[in-house]
Formats: sequence, structure tokens, C-alpha cells
Amino acid sequence: MEKVELVKQEALNAIEQCTTLEQLNQVRVTYLGKKGPIQSLMTLMKNLSAEEKPAFGAEVNACKQAVAAVLEEKKTDLEQKAMDERLEKEKIDVTLPAMPLKNGTLHPLTLVTQEMEDLFISMGYSIGEGPEVELDLYNFERANIPADHPARDMQDTFYINPEVLLRTHTTAIQMRELEKAGGKLPLKVICPGKVYRRDDDDATHSHQFMQCEGLVVAENITLADLKGTLSYMADRMFGKGRDIRFRPSYFQFTEPSVEVDVSCHMCGGKGCPVCKGTGWIEVLGGGMVHPNVLEMAGFDSKKCSGFAFGVGVERVAMLKYGVDDIRNFYINDARFLKMFDRFD
Ligand code: DAH
Repeated sequence: MEKVELVKQEALNAIEQCTTLEQLNQVRVTYLGKKGPIQSLMTLMKNLSAEEKPAFGAEVNACKQAVAAVLEEKKTDLEQKAMDERLEKEKIDVTLPAMPLKNGTLHPLTLVTQEMEDLFISMGYSIGEGPEVELDLYNFERANIPADHPARDMQDTFYINPEVLLRTHTTAIQMRELEKAGGKLPLKVICPGKVYRRDDDDATHSHQFMQCEGLVVAENITLADLKGTLSYMADRMFGKGRDIRFRPSYFQFTEPSVEVDVSCHMCGGKGCPVCKGTGWIEVLGGGMVHPNVLEMAGFDSKKCSGFAFGVGVERVAMLKYGVDDIRNFYINDARFLKMFDRFD
């Protein structure tokens, strides 16, 4: 009996000293295993009398159960401790600032378009829109470019069928806006959008690019109004103090027609590589809306007049940001696009 008590004490001590679940498991195997000290107590049975045997057997069993119970208790204890430690170690501080998300940036062409929209909206213009898949009617006919007219060769066109095409210029939107106005004055609108031409792509040409059209129709509009408007636009887009000049040009839908140069924003007009030494940069085309165009859209060309202009958005963006290859705008290289972060 004393021996049983001794083994039990020994086992309880061993359990007491365990600090990890692995150690505890080792103790369990050692003491409760088939070859362990408790089991081997049974071998002492053979030395006992028949009367002593049941009491001894019961004592050994009680010892086994007591050890098992303490083992179980200790196990729960250690498991709880392990969980507490883990919770402590893996604690998350929910008040820490989050990792910053990587944001996209506005595309440079969007920046220029928005800038242009903002500046014209501030002068009371509205924004006109039209479809990219356009009728020949609005792209050419209403722009005073009848079928088979040689002026059509100026714009190599993607035709879908003889009446439907991909618009070659935002002048098509201008024609829709004129029609929509139904002869009502005044009309002040800008029309940004994508246009398409059958051009071979290179550093300065693309088969798809953006334009922004401007149009004002009212009483007594003159070329001076166009000049004032474009001077203001040049100041806002390229910095204060820009000069502009008109050179005679030809478009079917304007008479007279002009090509517009802006004094170079890099050298201030002295001459540099950007303006190829001339001090001037060609930026857009414009003129006085042709009477035929006004009449076809339902305006009385004797009572009103209008100016119009069309600017290449890529061209403005290239000049403004010093981009030397138009293809940069379309290949979506994140390193290029990221540079426009600071212009937002
Ligand atoms: N549509 C012309 C082009 O694509 C640009 C243009 C010139 C638009 C004169 C106009 C304008 O509104 O008056 O080359």
C-alpha cells in the first residue's frame, strides 16, 4: 500500500512539474502506459494473500484514476495557458493606421479634357456629346462637305457602310448641336470626344485620338470674339501672357478659316526646340461658321453668325507635359501614367 502511495506521489509530482503539453503527454505515457510503474504494481499481487488482493487491487485502481484525473486537469490548464499565450502574441492593434491603398490616377487626356471643360463652363458654355459611330450626314454633309468632294480626302475615313462611319472629327458633334438648337440663339457649346482616321500610327499620328470642338452662334459674332476666346484659353492652358496669331487656312465648314498658333510656353517666343525655333506652336483650326452650315441647321445666316474651332487634345497634352510620342497615351504603361499624379 505504501508503494502505491509512493508511485502516486511520484506521478503527481511529475505532472505538477510539466510546463508544456508535450511534457504532460510524456508523463501520461510513462505512468499510465502498459509498462509504467502503476501497471507494474499489479505484479506485486502474486505475493499477497487472497484476502489482501481485492483491497490492494482497488487501491491501485484508485491510484490510476487519481493520476488520470490530475493529468486531465493539468491538460485543460496547459491548453488554456497555451491559448492565452497565443492570443497575447497574435494580438491585433485595431487602432494602427491601415496600409495605404494604391490609387489610380486620372489619365493625362482626361486631365486636359476636364481642364478645358472647366474653363469653358466658367464662360457659360455647355457640353455637347455625340456618337463615335456617326452618320455621314453629320460628319460630312452638314459640315458642307458633300459626297465626292475632294475635301473628303483630307480625312481618311473608316466607313461602316456608305452612310455610317467612325467620326473623323468632333465637328460632327458641332453639327448635331446646331441642329438640336433649332435656330435658337445664343448657342455656346464645347464638344470633346474620340475621333478616328485611317492613319498609320507613329510618334505624332494615331488612328484614334481626341478632339475638343468649340462653337458659339449669336448675333454679331466676329473673328475678334474667336481671337479673344482663344487668347483666354491659351492663358489658362499654357500659362499667363501667351500671344496668339491667326494664319489663313481652309476648312469646308468655316469661312474665313484660320490656323491658330500660340506663342511658345517654353521659351516665351524667343525660339527653342519645342517650337522648332519659330517662337510659335500650331495648336488648332477654326474660323467663322460657314453660312451654308448655319442654314442647313435651320439658322438664318443673315441674322446671326458664329465662330468655331477644333483642338487636338493629345497635341495640347504633349505640349503641356512635354510628351514626345503620342503612343504613350495609349499603351497604359503605369510608370508613364503615374507621372500625372501631381496634376490631379
Ligand atoms: N475638324 C477640323 C479637323 O479635324 C478641325 C476644325 C477646324 C474644327 C476648324 C472646327 C473648325 O470647328 O472651325 O481638322
